[in-house]
Amino acid sequence: MTSPSGLLILGFGGHARAVADVALMSGIKELRFIDVNARPNETFGPFPVLPSWDEAPSAGWSVMPASGDGLGREAQCDWATKRGWALATLISPTATVGFGATVGPGTFIGHHAHVGPMASVGTGCIVNTGAIVEHECLIGDFTHISINAAVAGRCHIGRLCFIGAGSTVIDGIRVNDGITLGGGACAHRDLDEAGIYVGVPARKMTGKSPV
Ligand SMILES: CC(C)(COP(=O)(O)OP(=O)(O)OC[C@H]1O[C@@H](n2cnc3c(N)ncnc32)[C@H](O)[C@@H]1OP(=O)(O)O)[C@@H](O)C(=O)NCCC(=O)NCCS
Repeated sequence: MTSPSGLLILGFGGHARAVADVALMSGIKELRFIDVNARPNETFGPFPVLPSWDEAPSAGWSVMPASGDGLGREAQCDWATKRGWALATLISPTATVGFGATVGPGTFIGHHAHVGPMASVGTGCIVNTGAIVEHECLIGDFTHISINAAVAGRCHIGRLCFIGAGSTVIDGIRVNDGITLGGGACAHRDLDEAGIYVGVPARKMTGKSPV
């Protein structure tokens, strides 16, 4: 699903390591991480972590944004495309992508995740390990569907959303741009107003407490 020559992974946080694992299981042989905070000679197994883009290989490699943060991935995608790099699309061999589903550039589909038929997952998204995005869902750019979250059929999740670990969005729900749904929450109504929602059923947090 990506260049066989090699993959440049932007960042070296937790998500970058999950990206590396999927890349290796997909048969990619060469990896480089780029992270300004890299320590001298830092590696991930045999693969170097470079502090700057200048030392990265070029021809034939593609790039994967690996910030865990949606705005971070948006900036990484912009940066790479402005310099003419091809964005990879990385889909674990253990994931399933249904008939007619589309997955955008710079998007990561983790191990054992499922994207249902006719669903559309945008640019720079994460559908993380074990997450489900069911049939005919629309997932906006730079949104993260966290590990083991379940988005039931025909939901519309906006751009730059964060759908927390193990949370559920029941069928047909709309979640507006930029909204965070906390770990373990259940959205059973549309989430329109900007903010963080937690609990079952999901309620908006005000200050530091859910209301
Ligand atoms: C919802 C969330 C974003 C809030 O983070 P935060 O603003 O730092 O909130 P705090 O940890 O300060 O907690 C504030 C209050 O909300 C409660 N709370 C936090 N997260 C909650 C959750 N997921 N469900 C229910 N209540 C929650 C806390 O118990 C606390 O309540 P209190 O004030 O009565 O003690 C975060 O807790 C969360 O769920 N993140 C999801 C992380 C995730 O899924 N990661 C997966 C990566 S793959």
